Amino acid sequence: MKKIVIGCDHAGFQLKNQVIASLKEAGYDVADVGTYSEESCSYPAIAHELCTKIQSGERELGILICGTGIGMSLCANKHKGIRAACCSDVFSARLTRNHNDANVLCFGARVVGYGVAMDLVNAFLEAEFEGGRHASRVDLITATEEGNFDALK
Ligand code: RB5
Repeated sequence: MKKIVIGCDHAGFQLKNQVIASLKEAGYDVADVGTYSEESCSYPAIAHELCTKIQSGERELGILICGTGIGMSLCANKHKGIRAACCSDVFSARLTRNHNDANVLCFGARVVGYGVAMDLVNAFLEAEFEGGRHASRVDLITATEEGNFDALK
């Protein structure tokens, strides 16, 4: 079973709790990096906390929930080695694992309800990176992250 880490801001707090309960029931090992109430907080700090757990190898895949999923994905993608995808449809949630080797799924609690959220989460967690022709493109994402723009020519 993959080791998962999940985080949210105040907007995602209720949905995060529902997602954690479902993942634990399914047998996943889930670490929760907060936030732990509906008190207003800043999503960049939570995104950072989650990303450090993936960068260190402590956790394999992450889930970030805010109001839209956008703020969390913007912050997560500023971290080296993090490929965060903000999704609201199941096809994208699956394909971003298959093709982009995304390691963080983001979505918005003001965009999707619990049912769609779990469909996104399950599609993301069950899909695998396909490698092959996609591997060299993911390598170019890494080159971009490292400022090696010559690799893109
Ligand atoms: C909080 O109000 C909201 O701005 C935040 O949850 C998120 O949607 C930002 O992208």
